[in-house]
Amino acid sequence: MSCDVGLYGLAVMGQNFALNMASHGFKVCVGNRSPSKVELTVKRAKDEGDLPIVGSADPEDFCKQLSKPRKIIILVMAGKPVDDMIATLSQYLEEGDVIVDGGNEWFHNTLRRAKELEPKGIHFIGMGISGGEEGARNGPSLMPGGPKPAYDLLEPIITKCAAQVNDGPCTGYIGPVGSGNYVKMIHNGIEYGDMQLIAEVYDIMRSVLKLSNKEMAEVFEEWNKSPLASYLIEITAKILAKEDDVTGEGYVIDYILDKSGMKGTGRWTIQEAAERSVAAPTMAASLDSRYISARKDERVKASGLLKGPEMTAAEIPIHKGQLLDDLKWALWASKVCSYAQGLSTIKSCSDDMNWDINLSECVRMWKGGCIIRAAVLQKIQDAYARDKNLPSLLLDPVIAGDLNNCTAGWRRAVVVAIGYGIATPALSASLNYFDSYRRESLPANLTQAQRDFFGGHTYERTDKEGVFHTAWTDAHKSIGDINERK
Ligand code: 6PG
Repeated sequence: MSCDVGLYGLAVMGQNFALNMASHGFKVCVGNRSPSKVELTVKRAKDEGDLPIVGSADPEDFCKQLSKPRKIIILVMAGKPVDDMIATLSQYLEEGDVIVDGGNEWFHNTLRRAKELEPKGIHFIGMGISGGEEGARNGPSLMPGGPKPAYDLLEPIITKCAAQVNDGPCTGYIGPVGSGNYVKMIHNGIEYGDMQLIAEVYDIMRSVLKLSNKEMAEVFEEWNKSPLASYLIEITAKILAKEDDVTGEGYVIDYILDKSGMKGTGRWTIQEAAERSVAAPTMAASLDSRYISARKDERVKASGLLKGPEMTAAEIPIHKGQLLDDLKWALWASKVCSYAQGLSTIKSCSDDMNWDINLSECVRMWKGGCIIRAAVLQKIQDAYARDKNLPSLLLDPVIAGDLNNCTAGWRRAVVVAIGYGIATPALSASLNYFDSYRRESLPANLTQAQRDFFGGHTYERTDKEGVFHTAWTDAHKSIGDINERK
């Protein structure tokens, strides 16, 4: 019997996703460069209830075992390995077959690959997959972008294998090729933001409130029953409560070196936002925080050289209950601002590329399975359902009302952190984003005047249409009128 779908690339994600598809009754052919992983996956399929997974000897055999049009998901390292994989497989494929790249890939690579495969009539889909190993096995969030007819071939499989939430599977048609990778990239930028915001709140709790790990775990557990409920809050509570079994003393968290790594999707998000002139300060602050954290040796030197404030509770009075409540709403509001930045970036690219991404749908797909799944996504989904062309999430009246209700605590929390010298780049960036976005009048008039002063860059006026230049000094007069210079 020929197989419904093929999966090539059997690292942990690949193995688990193959098992997931097989658990839903699809017959899966698996392939991998080293045959041991093929054997292992086939064995796992046997052990986990005789699931319908068959192994393949080599790429040719792999392609032969698939029913036509073939549907192949590749889960190999992003970059060159994907190009190599496509080159190998496409020798054995024919018109109408579909290759799906499930990796975290730079969307321009996906666009290029789709073009390269076009003459052969092979469809290419870039599908973001979120949820880690556990999600891959039990239901991830799947973000596919590619030609609609190719998506339709894949749809029966992915709608069954994705995480399921109140209003359907956490997948759907995102848009043309590249859009799936783009949405996944922004998902990761938001993931960076969420993680950094939680880390900052943790830092204030431990450094200002001097809470123990156990107490902090309890706070996060409590918050996970509130509008802050999310996967990342849930795991934070579990992380903080985990005792160290290496030494048998204390908590694991206190033994972990404070240097954070990354694979790059967060950096892409910021590059992209900048490319599209979209402000993404919370996500950018999160990226910067990872860079600073990585320079541990420099920070150790700096800690002996640069001074923090000598702040005491008398100067900024601290009330534990009040500060915890303030932190909760500061976190909620900051998170919403970060999502707003990510979604505005998607909107901007979607408009430029004519992708027509439905943001409400896109947010719906994040409600389960993925790393940023969170209760607040329902509100965001509803906001874009009310107005699919919302220029910014902050312009939705319900979201705006909720943010306004958070501001007092949000400001108090940031003031405490600044007063005590605890860095809160993401919480502060979100608050500054909010404070910039909500103001009718910004000091950019001065920036424009300076640009005009030193470079004759001209400015617009508030009282008249047109473009203006001022001869700011006699020296400017001697250079001549801007219009004459053009
Ligand atoms: C997911 C994650 C995943 C990502 C890791 C690591 O949605 O399952 O986003 O795709 O690769 O979270 O990312 P960094 O190494 O960049 O932190």
